[in-house]
Amino acid sequence: MNDRSFEFFLQFHLNVPRQGPGTPEATAEAFRRVRPFLPPGPRILDLGCGSGGQTIVLAGLCDGSILAIDFHPPFIEQLRQRAARAELSHRIVAEVGDMKALDLGPRRFDLVWCEGAVFVVGFERGLDLVRPLLEPSGVVVLSEAVWLKPPNEAPSIVAECWQQAYPPMTTVEANLAMAEGAGYAVIDHFTLPRQGWDAYIDPVEARMNEVLATVGNDPDARAAAEAERREFAAFRANDGSVGYEFFLLRRSDGTVD
Ligand SMILES: C[S@@+](CC[C@H](N)C(=O)[O-])C[C@H]1O[C@@H](n2cnc3c(N)ncnc32)[C@H](O)[C@@H]1O
Repeated sequence: MNDRSFEFFLQFHLNVPRQGPGTPEATAEAFRRVRPFLPPGPRILDLGCGSGGQTIVLAGLCDGSILAIDFHPPFIEQLRQRAARAELSHRIVAEVGDMKALDLGPRRFDLVWCEGAVFVVGFERGLDLVRPLLEPSGVVVLSEAVWLKPPNEAPSIVAECWQQAYPPMTTVEANLAMAEGAGYAVIDHFTLPRQGWDAYIDPVEARMNEVLATVGNDPDARAAAEAERREFAAFRANDGSVGYEFFLLRRSDGTVD
């Protein structure tokens, strides 16, 4: 995908509730399970927040403050507008930033949240990157694509799509072992229900068709749409071979970085 096609890809993901699989219910369920490990009014860092599908939900579930970071300025602008509409701007700060080069100074968080975005750096590296940002027994919630069955048992369109898009993708068990090896205790984990995929794909597909209707036969837009359609087809053909797993972890190394 060239730069201009990527611009269209981003446009397909604007003005939609979220940029990756998930639902408000799943966000709320993950938060409910980690709530006992958090102080009242937790300081939350939401990494790869997109336009804030989960950020707004989290802000409604507690009295904490949220710093939400994403690489793409249009998503951050949309999150700011959503926060303002929900009268949550005093508790949600949205900033453009790069997960690969986080520079948050000496700040510490009680909870780091990252729905569908840790793939940007990889699961294990993501856990290493956030450790110094966490209070000594701080909590991390990540959702990450996993193989729920061996790839050779998956429909070929599903296996090919994911092997190409995310070669390091592994199993729930392997991710749990990585988390423990990286100095985290496992609080819990659960698989995002199927509706979480539809909640992402259906609005993006509708938005994509709207954008395509305005740009006619633009070859870069068509290339972006083709890539999206292949991904949607693989998502829809998924028979449970691939899932998004929520990992609920607690820093357990006991040291202060
Ligand atoms: C699959 S989306 C998930 C967005 C959101 N958490 C959700 O579930 O709707 C991945 C997000 O990671 C962001 N992203 C990609 N590379 C990034 C980077 N280097 N630093 C920060 N965010 C990044 C993208 O802009 C996108 O919003």
